[in-house]
Amino acid sequence: MNHRKNLPTSACVTNIEGDGRLNAPSAVRNAEHIVELVRNTAIKSGNALEIASGTGQHVVKLAAALPLLDWQPSDVDETRIKSIRCWSNDHHLTNLKPPCLLDATEEGWAADHYGQDLILLVNLLHLISFEETKILVKEVSKALVPKGVSIIYGPFMRKGKLISKNDMEFHHSLITSDPDLGYKNDVDMLGLFCEAGLVHLSTNKMPANNLAFITQKP
Ligand SMILES: C[S@@+](CC[C@H](N)C(=O)[O-])C[C@H]1O[C@@H](n2cnc3c(N)ncnc32)[C@H](O)[C@@H]1O
Repeated sequence: MNHRKNLPTSACVTNIEGDGRLNAPSAVRNAEHIVELVRNTAIKSGNALEIASGTGQHVVKLAAALPLLDWQPSDVDETRIKSIRCWSNDHHLTNLKPPCLLDATEEGWAADHYGQDLILLVNLLHLISFEETKILVKEVSKALVPKGVSIIYGPFMRKGKLISKNDMEFHHSLITSDPDLGYKNDVDMLGLFCEAGLVHLSTNKMPANNLAFITQKP
């Protein structure tokens, strides 16, 4: 699996509990905003894939709040998969599938996941390279059904600029650990969506300077 081991500690702050569940303060902080964001998309029912589900704290809230969507959580990391299982087991949600291993930067994954009405990705693109981002966006497009929607959320540059001191420090810590990582540019994202055949519907401003790109497969 193609995931990176040398990220700065600020990239993924999680506390581990006795049963293997991970608790991420940032995931808890932005959960309600993410639920509202997804609730407000046109997609109300069908198959929903979450890429890079992390601890699993978002997907349990999403599945509880949006019961007509069938949620498939995923991550590249076995520790995260275990944590997603722990959070899922607490909630007994019939619309929440067991988590699966998925490296979203690996060419070809869409073939195994075709048929998605909604694909959600939160807080991954700054932790992968631009080339990997390009593959990921193409595979997202391939995995969506016609009229399917993708939501890509995270920290981004605005027209090539970092917009706060915190963003500058975080981006700098990422590129110091690996020059291929770091915030992607909002303008470049629009180019990648277009190349992948996705129609850009909106860019939503989210708390803590994050953006959410909403795109649709024609
Ligand atoms: C910053 S965490 C975000 C987790 C969650 N989405 C959230 O916002 O709380 C990044 C997550 O991406 C996962 N990840 C890293 N590389 C990945 C890849 N190539 N494919 C899928 N997931 C990946 C990590 O294992 C981690 O769970």
